[in-house]
Amino acid sequence: MHKRVKKAVFPAGGLGTRFLPATKASPKEMLPIVDKPMIQYAIEEAITCNIEEFIIITGKYKRAIEDHFDSAYELEENLKKTDKKKLLEEITRLNHINFAYIRQKAALGLGHAILCARPFVDDEPFAVLLSDDVIEPEETLLLDMVGLYEKLGCSILALEEVPVTEIHKYGVIGGIASEDGIYKINDLIEKPTKEKAPSNLAIIGRYILTPEIFGILEKLTPGRGGEIQLTDALRELLKKQSIYGYIFKGKRYDAGDKFGYLKATINFALKNPEVSEPFTQYLQDIAQMLKNKRHNEDRKSVNYSIPLKDNII
Ligand code: UTP
Repeated sequence: MHKRVKKAVFPAGGLGTRFLPATKASPKEMLPIVDKPMIQYAIEEAITCNIEEFIIITGKYKRAIEDHFDSAYELEENLKKTDKKKLLEEITRLNHINFAYIRQKAALGLGHAILCARPFVDDEPFAVLLSDDVIEPEETLLLDMVGLYEKLGCSILALEEVPVTEIHKYGVIGGIASEDGIYKINDLIEKPTKEKAPSNLAIIGRYILTPEIFGILEKLTPGRGGEIQLTDALRELLKKQSIYGYIFKGKRYDAGDKFGYLKATINFALKNPEVSEPFTQYLQDIAQMLKNKRHNEDRKSVNYSIPLKDNII
Protein backbone atom coordinates (compact mmCIF):
# COMPACT_ATOMS: atom_id res chain seq x y z
CA MET A 1 0.00 0.00 0.00
CA HIS A 2 1.42 3.37 -1.01
CA LYS A 3 1.50 6.37 1.32
CA ARG A 4 -1.56 8.60 1.17
CA VAL A 5 -1.16 12.04 -0.46
CA LYS A 6 -1.83 14.40 2.46
CA LYS A 7 0.27 17.43 1.56
CA ALA A 8 -0.08 19.98 -1.20
CA VAL A 9 2.33 22.69 -2.34
CA PHE A 10 1.11 25.89 -3.98
CA PRO A 11 4.00 27.73 -5.64
CA ALA A 12 3.23 31.45 -5.66
CA GLY A 13 6.69 32.98 -5.69
CA GLY A 14 6.82 33.96 -9.38
CA LEU A 15 7.09 37.53 -10.65
CA GLY A 16 3.93 37.44 -12.76
CA THR A 17 5.48 39.64 -15.44
CA ARG A 18 2.67 38.93 -17.93
CA PHE A 19 0.33 40.84 -15.65
CA LEU A 20 2.44 43.91 -15.01
CA PRO A 21 1.71 46.55 -13.82
CA ALA A 22 -1.04 44.80 -11.76
CA THR A 23 1.55 42.45 -10.24
CA LYS A 24 4.14 45.09 -9.39
CA ALA A 25 3.22 45.11 -5.70
CA SER A 26 0.40 42.52 -5.50
CA PRO A 27 0.51 38.78 -6.12
CA LYS A 28 -0.79 37.39 -9.40
CA GLU A 29 -2.29 34.52 -7.40
CA MET A 30 -4.60 37.03 -5.67
CA LEU A 31 -6.16 38.27 -8.93
CA PRO A 32 -9.85 37.42 -8.64
CA ILE A 33 -11.84 35.29 -11.02
CA VAL A 34 -15.17 37.09 -10.46
CA ASP A 35 -15.00 37.38 -6.64
CA LYS A 36 -12.47 34.81 -5.45
CA PRO A 37 -8.67 34.94 -5.81
CA MET A 38 -7.17 32.34 -8.13
CA ILE A 39 -5.22 30.71 -5.30
CA GLN A 40 -8.42 30.09 -3.32
CA TYR A 41 -9.85 28.01 -6.18
CA ALA A 42 -6.70 25.86 -6.02
CA ILE A 43 -6.90 25.51 -2.22
CA GLU A 44 -10.57 24.47 -2.46
CA GLU A 45 -9.68 21.96 -5.17
CA ALA A 46 -7.08 20.40 -2.84
CA ILE A 47 -9.62 20.28 0.00
CA THR A 48 -11.88 18.07 -2.16
CA CYS A 49 -8.95 15.61 -2.40
CA ASN A 50 -8.67 15.29 1.39
CA ILE A 51 -5.39 17.17 1.53
CA GLU A 52 -4.55 17.98 5.14
CA GLU A 53 -1.47 20.18 4.93
CA PHE A 54 -1.30 23.27 2.73
CA ILE A 55 2.11 24.69 1.94
CA ILE A 56 2.25 27.98 0.08
CA ILE A 57 5.50 29.23 -1.45
CA THR A 58 5.45 33.00 -1.35
CA GLY A 59 7.94 35.72 -2.23
CA LYS A 60 8.43 39.46 -2.26
CA TYR A 61 5.12 41.42 -2.41
CA LYS A 62 3.09 38.29 -1.68
CA ARG A 63 1.96 39.07 1.85
CA ALA A 64 -1.64 39.59 0.74
CA ILE A 65 -1.87 35.79 0.34
CA GLU A 66 -1.19 35.25 4.06
CA ASP A 67 -3.64 37.98 5.03
CA HIS A 68 -6.30 36.48 2.79
CA PHE A 69 -6.20 33.09 4.52
CA ASP A 70 -5.94 34.59 8.00
CA SER A 71 -9.02 35.20 10.14
CA ALA A 72 -10.21 38.82 9.87
CA TYR A 73 -11.59 39.66 13.32
CA GLU A 74 -12.84 43.21 12.66
CA LEU A 75 -14.47 42.31 9.37
CA GLU A 76 -16.10 39.22 10.89
CA GLU A 77 -17.50 41.27 13.80
CA ASN A 78 -18.80 43.87 11.38
CA LEU A 79 -20.55 41.25 9.24
CA LYS A 80 -22.04 39.69 12.40
CA LYS A 81 -23.40 43.06 13.58
CA THR A 82 -24.89 43.89 10.19
CA ASP A 83 -26.35 40.38 9.90
CA LYS A 84 -24.56 39.57 6.64
CA LYS A 85 -24.60 35.84 7.34
CA LYS A 86 -23.82 34.63 3.85
CA LEU A 87 -20.73 36.81 3.52
CA LEU A 88 -19.62 35.87 7.02
CA GLU A 89 -19.93 32.20 6.14
CA GLU A 90 -17.98 32.80 2.94
CA ILE A 91 -15.03 34.56 4.59
CA THR A 92 -14.75 32.14 7.53
CA ARG A 93 -15.20 28.91 5.58
CA LEU A 94 -11.45 28.19 5.39
CA ASN A 95 -10.55 29.48 8.88
CA HIS A 96 -10.03 25.94 10.22
CA ILE A 97 -7.26 25.21 7.75
CA ASN A 98 -3.64 25.51 8.74
CA PHE A 99 -1.36 26.95 6.15
CA ALA A 100 2.41 26.84 6.15
CA TYR A 101 4.20 29.64 4.31
CA ILE A 102 7.72 29.50 2.99
CA ARG A 103 9.32 32.50 1.36
CA GLN A 104 11.23 31.84 -1.84
CA LYS A 105 13.90 34.50 -1.52
CA ALA A 106 14.35 34.96 -5.27
CA ALA A 107 12.17 33.81 -8.15
CA LEU A 108 14.61 31.16 -9.38
CA GLY A 109 11.98 29.03 -11.10
CA LEU A 110 9.21 26.54 -10.39
CA GLY A 111 11.68 23.76 -9.54
CA HIS A 112 13.34 26.01 -6.97
CA ALA A 113 9.95 26.99 -5.51
CA ILE A 114 9.10 23.30 -5.01
CA LEU A 115 12.50 22.64 -3.43
CA CYS A 116 11.66 25.34 -0.85
CA ALA A 117 8.82 23.08 0.40
CA ARG A 118 11.18 20.23 1.30
CA PRO A 119 11.33 20.87 5.10
CA PHE A 120 7.53 20.57 5.28
CA VAL A 121 7.02 17.73 2.83
CA ASP A 122 9.93 15.60 4.01
CA ASP A 123 9.69 12.05 2.63
CA GLU A 124 6.05 11.96 1.62
CA PRO A 125 4.38 12.06 -1.77
CA PHE A 126 2.76 15.45 -2.38
CA ALA A 127 0.53 17.33 -4.77
CA VAL A 128 1.56 20.53 -6.55
CA LEU A 129 -1.09 22.95 -7.77
CA LEU A 130 -0.26 26.00 -9.88
CA SER A 131 -3.06 28.39 -9.09
CA ASP A 132 -2.82 30.26 -12.37
CA ASP A 133 -3.95 27.08 -14.11
CA VAL A 134 -7.61 27.44 -13.21
CA ILE A 135 -9.73 24.31 -13.42
CA GLU A 136 -13.53 24.31 -13.28
CA PRO A 137 -14.55 23.40 -9.70
CA GLU A 138 -16.73 20.47 -10.84
CA GLU A 139 -13.76 18.69 -12.44
CA THR A 140 -12.09 15.84 -10.51
CA LEU A 141 -8.64 15.99 -12.11
CA LEU A 142 -6.56 16.12 -8.93
CA LEU A 143 -8.74 13.55 -7.19
CA ASP A 144 -8.27 11.17 -10.14
CA MET A 145 -4.50 11.76 -10.03
CA VAL A 146 -4.39 11.03 -6.29
CA GLY A 147 -6.30 7.78 -6.98
CA LEU A 148 -3.82 6.87 -9.72
CA TYR A 149 -0.88 7.58 -7.40
CA GLU A 150 -2.40 5.29 -4.78
CA LYS A 151 -2.55 2.54 -7.41
CA LEU A 152 0.86 3.03 -9.07
CA GLY A 153 2.99 4.66 -6.34
CA CYS A 154 4.88 6.93 -8.74
CA SER A 155 4.79 10.55 -9.87
CA ILE A 156 1.76 11.54 -11.94
CA LEU A 157 1.65 14.58 -14.24
CA ALA A 158 -1.53 16.16 -15.57
CA LEU A 159 -1.44 16.37 -19.36
CA GLU A 160 -3.50 18.16 -21.93
CA GLU A 161 -3.52 17.89 -25.70
CA VAL A 162 -2.56 21.32 -27.03
CA PRO A 163 -2.53 22.71 -30.58
CA VAL A 164 0.87 22.57 -32.29
CA THR A 165 1.00 26.39 -32.26
CA GLU A 166 0.92 26.36 -28.43
CA ILE A 167 3.55 23.67 -27.83
CA HIS A 168 6.44 26.10 -27.30
CA LYS A 169 4.74 27.42 -24.12
CA TYR A 170 4.72 24.11 -22.23
CA GLY A 171 6.73 21.19 -20.91
CA VAL A 172 5.93 18.39 -23.37
CA ILE A 173 6.12 14.62 -22.87
CA GLY A 174 6.80 11.60 -25.00
CA GLY A 175 5.21 8.36 -23.83
CA ILE A 176 3.33 5.17 -24.47
CA ALA A 177 -0.38 4.87 -23.76
CA SER A 178 -0.80 2.28 -21.00
CA GLU A 179 -4.52 2.55 -20.37
CA ASP A 180 -7.16 4.86 -21.71
CA GLY A 181 -5.95 8.41 -20.95
CA ILE A 182 -2.86 7.21 -19.05
CA TYR A 183 0.66 7.45 -20.46
CA LYS A 184 3.89 5.89 -19.30
CA ILE A 185 6.26 8.77 -19.88
CA ASN A 186 9.62 8.19 -21.58
CA ASP A 187 10.66 11.74 -22.48
CA LEU A 188 10.16 15.29 -21.20
CA ILE A 189 11.19 18.57 -22.82
CA GLU A 190 10.60 22.09 -21.54
CA LYS A 191 9.18 24.53 -24.12
CA PRO A 192 10.31 22.68 -27.28
CA THR A 193 9.94 23.95 -30.83
CA LYS A 194 7.19 22.12 -32.67
CA GLU A 195 9.85 20.20 -34.63
CA LYS A 196 11.51 18.93 -31.43
CA ALA A 197 8.31 18.18 -29.48
CA PRO A 198 7.85 14.44 -28.88
CA SER A 199 4.04 14.85 -28.90
CA ASN A 200 1.36 17.48 -28.40
CA LEU A 201 0.79 16.34 -24.80
CA ALA A 202 1.62 19.28 -22.57
CA ILE A 203 2.16 19.20 -18.81
CA ILE A 204 -0.38 21.39 -17.04
CA GLY A 205 -0.32 22.76 -13.50
CA ARG A 206 -1.25 19.70 -11.42
CA TYR A 207 1.31 17.15 -10.25
CA ILE A 208 1.65 14.33 -7.75
CA LEU A 209 5.35 14.00 -6.98
CA THR A 210 7.41 11.50 -5.05
CA PRO A 211 9.86 13.03 -2.52
CA GLU A 212 12.88 11.77 -4.51
CA ILE A 213 12.40 14.90 -6.66
CA PHE A 214 13.97 17.03 -3.87
CA GLY A 215 17.40 15.37 -4.03
CA ILE A 216 17.42 15.98 -7.78
CA LEU A 217 16.23 19.60 -7.57
CA GLU A 218 18.92 20.31 -5.01
CA LYS A 219 21.69 19.33 -7.45
CA LEU A 220 20.18 20.88 -10.55
CA THR A 221 21.91 23.76 -12.29
CA PRO A 222 19.72 26.49 -13.82
CA GLY A 223 18.27 25.52 -17.19
CA ARG A 224 16.15 27.45 -19.70
CA GLY A 225 15.75 31.13 -18.79
CA GLY A 226 18.31 30.78 -15.97
CA GLU A 227 15.65 29.07 -13.80
CA ILE A 228 15.65 25.77 -11.91
CA GLN A 229 13.20 23.93 -14.14
CA LEU A 230 10.89 21.28 -12.73
CA THR A 231 10.85 19.57 -16.14
CA ASP A 232 14.65 19.09 -15.97
CA ALA A 233 14.29 17.48 -12.54
CA LEU A 234 11.49 15.23 -13.80
CA ARG A 235 13.74 14.08 -16.64
CA GLU A 236 16.36 13.05 -14.07
CA LEU A 237 13.68 11.36 -11.93
CA LEU A 238 12.62 9.36 -14.98
CA LYS A 239 16.04 7.67 -14.97
CA LYS A 240 15.26 6.28 -11.49
CA GLN A 241 11.48 5.89 -11.31
CA SER A 242 8.50 5.53 -13.60
CA ILE A 243 6.42 8.64 -14.23
CA TYR A 244 2.89 8.52 -15.57
CA GLY A 245 0.79 11.15 -17.29
CA TYR A 246 -2.94 11.50 -16.94
CA ILE A 247 -4.80 13.24 -19.75
CA PHE A 248 -7.23 15.90 -18.64
CA LYS A 249 -10.16 16.40 -20.97
CA GLY A 250 -12.09 18.95 -18.91
CA LYS A 251 -12.00 22.73 -18.81
CA ARG A 252 -8.79 24.52 -17.83
CA TYR A 253 -7.81 28.14 -18.23
CA ASP A 254 -4.23 29.36 -18.42
CA ALA A 255 -5.05 32.37 -16.27
CA GLY A 256 -1.38 33.34 -15.93
CA ASP A 257 -1.86 34.89 -19.35
CA LYS A 258 -4.22 37.82 -20.07
CA PHE A 259 -6.38 36.07 -22.67
CA GLY A 260 -6.75 32.89 -20.56
CA TYR A 261 -7.57 35.01 -17.50
CA LEU A 262 -10.32 36.84 -19.40
CA LYS A 263 -11.75 33.55 -20.68
CA ALA A 264 -11.82 32.13 -17.13
CA THR A 265 -13.50 35.29 -15.84
CA ILE A 266 -16.21 35.17 -18.50
CA ASN A 267 -16.94 31.47 -18.02
CA PHE A 268 -17.04 31.70 -14.23
CA ALA A 269 -19.25 34.81 -14.39
CA LEU A 270 -21.68 32.96 -16.65
CA LYS A 271 -22.12 30.40 -13.86
CA ASN A 272 -22.19 32.83 -10.95
CA PRO A 273 -25.78 32.99 -9.58
CA GLU A 274 -25.45 36.68 -8.66
CA VAL A 275 -24.47 37.93 -12.10
CA SER A 276 -25.12 35.16 -14.62
CA GLU A 277 -28.45 36.51 -15.87
CA PRO A 278 -27.53 40.17 -16.53
CA PHE A 279 -24.06 39.13 -17.66
CA THR A 280 -25.44 36.66 -20.22
CA GLN A 281 -27.68 39.42 -21.56
CA TYR A 282 -24.75 41.82 -21.68
CA LEU A 283 -22.64 39.33 -23.66
CA GLN A 284 -25.51 38.75 -26.08
CA ASP A 285 -25.77 42.54 -26.60
CA ILE A 286 -22.04 42.76 -27.25
CA ALA A 287 -22.21 39.82 -29.68
CA GLN A 288 -25.05 41.57 -31.56
CA MET A 289 -23.14 44.84 -31.61
CA LEU A 290 -20.04 43.12 -33.02
CA LYS A 291 -22.17 41.37 -35.63
CA ASN A 292 -23.70 44.68 -36.72
CA LYS A 293 -20.29 46.31 -36.83
CA ARG A 294 -18.90 43.52 -39.01
CA HIS A 295 -21.95 43.74 -41.27
CA ASN A 296 -21.45 47.52 -41.69
CA GLU A 297 -17.76 47.08 -42.42
CA ASP A 298 -18.56 44.42 -45.03
CA ARG A 299 -21.03 46.82 -46.65
CA LYS A 300 -18.49 49.64 -46.67
CA SER A 301 -15.93 47.45 -48.37
CA VAL A 302 -18.34 46.78 -51.30
CA ASN A 303 -17.77 49.32 -54.08
CA TYR A 304 -20.92 51.45 -54.25
CA SER A 305 -19.46 54.16 -56.53
CA ILE A 306 -21.98 55.36 -59.09
CA PRO A 307 -21.20 54.28 -62.64
CA LEU A 308 -19.64 57.12 -64.61
CA LYS A 309 -22.45 57.59 -67.16
CA ASP A 310 -25.08 58.05 -64.39
CA ASN A 311 -22.80 60.58 -62.75
CA ILE A 312 -23.11 63.08 -65.61
CA ILE A 313 -25.72 65.75 -64.98
P1 UTP B 1 4.85 31.14 -14.27
O1 UTP B 1 5.59 30.35 -15.27
O2 UTP B 1 3.45 31.54 -14.63
O3 UTP B 1 5.72 32.41 -13.91
O4 UTP B 1 4.83 30.32 -12.93
P2 UTP B 1 5.32 33.75 -13.18
O5 UTP B 1 6.57 34.40 -12.69
O6 UTP B 1 4.27 33.50 -12.13
O7 UTP B 1 4.63 34.63 -14.32
P3 UTP B 1 5.24 35.31 -15.64
O8 UTP B 1 5.60 34.17 -16.56
O9 UTP B 1 6.43 36.16 -15.25
O10 UTP B 1 4.11 36.13 -16.17
C1 UTP B 1 3.94 29.25 -12.69
C2 UTP B 1 3.71 29.15 -11.19
O11 UTP B 1 4.94 28.90 -10.53
C3 UTP B 1 5.18 29.89 -9.54
C4 UTP B 1 4.32 31.07 -9.95
O12 UTP B 1 4.00 31.88 -8.82
C5 UTP B 1 3.12 30.41 -10.59
O13 UTP B 1 2.14 30.05 -9.63
N1 UTP B 1 6.62 30.22 -9.48
C6 UTP B 1 7.30 30.53 -10.62
C7 UTP B 1 7.23 30.28 -8.26
O14 UTP B 1 6.63 30.00 -7.21
N2 UTP B 1 8.55 30.65 -8.22
C8 UTP B 1 9.26 30.94 -9.33
O15 UTP B 1 10.47 31.27 -9.21
C9 UTP B 1 8.61 30.89 -10.57
